[in-house]
Amino acid sequence: MAFEKALQKEAESFAKKLHWNLKGLSLRMTDCWANVMPKGTYHTLHLHPHSVLSGVFYLTTPPGSVPLKLEDPRMPFFMNAPQGKPMYVEVPARAGQFVMFESWLRHEVPPNQSQKPRVSISFNYTLESNDE
Ligand SMILES: [Fe+2]
Repeated sequence: MAFEKALQKEAESFAKKLHWNLKGLSLRMTDCWANVMPKGTYHTLHLHPHSVLSGVFYLTTPPGSVPLKLEDPRMPFFMNAPQGKPMYVEVPARAGQFVMFESWLRHEVPPNQSQKPRVSISFNYTLESNDE
């Protein structure tokens, strides 16, 4: 699939930047799905179990499209954070761009404010043994 092929090098590059040891392993896109989000639609805080890398590619982001919100991973552990440090990092949704993150990182999409749908493709990667 062209989408999978286009992102494969990006996923491998990201894993390299994370200093993952991929000896004998390969990243493989396991699934991808479209998200069509009309005004008011949202995705609650979640993570992607059974995956190692996840992300989103934005197709259509009309004015008012809300960002992806990545949660500070200390939050679920009730750990203190330096004062003034935001609990979320907001990544703007921009058509033609993608965002990739480790699948354990909780994230959400707040209620969409755009008059037209915000459209994206989300995806997951897993690690597979090269011996299979
Ligand atoms: Fe997600």
